[in-house]
Amino acid sequence: MKKTAVLIGVLALGACVEETVDGRQAFMEDCAACHGADARGSGEFGEMLIKQPPDLTTLAARNGGTFPTDYVMSTIDGFHRDGSFSAAMPEFGAGDMGETIMVGATPVPARLWALASYLQSIQREAE
Ligand code: HEC
Repeated sequence: MKKTAVLIGVLALGACVEETVDGRQAFMEDCAACHGADARGSGEFGEMLIKQPPDLTTLAARNGGTFPTDYVMSTIDGFHRDGSFSAAMPEFGAGDMGETIMVGATPVPARLWALASYLQSIQREAE
């Protein structure tokens, strides 16, 4: 009887941990094939594309030092793209981005926010 209770406790804990999205893990699953495990645009699949995936660690440097959060999130979910944007990159907004969380006053899918936060955390100076 006791053992069962402990087991259920462990399972419940596991479920909780799974629900919070790990941005790095999400990146490895959804983006690394094209953008590279280091996000610098050297993924195995990315190398085969006509239009090379850009370095995602210099987004802030290329934007005057400010990380372009809105641009990044809308690029990922496919909301903000013009005709010149490569069709190779999937529109992730069509898939499941997880439950909606509030970022300030803005509702954002948890997975999208985790991805943007992860990218922001790996920004570096342009070479
Ligand atoms: C199938 C390949 C592929 C996958 C998978 C992919 N991308 Fe991309 N991504 C591209 C390409 C190619 C571009 C360049 C598009 C263009 O500029 O026309 C791009 C552009 C971007 C940009 C704009 C960068 C800039 O400098 O303006 C961001 C941000 C981005 N990707 C993030 C992501 C994230 C986050 C994921 C995972 C959720 C992802 N991408 C998955 C191929 C891919």
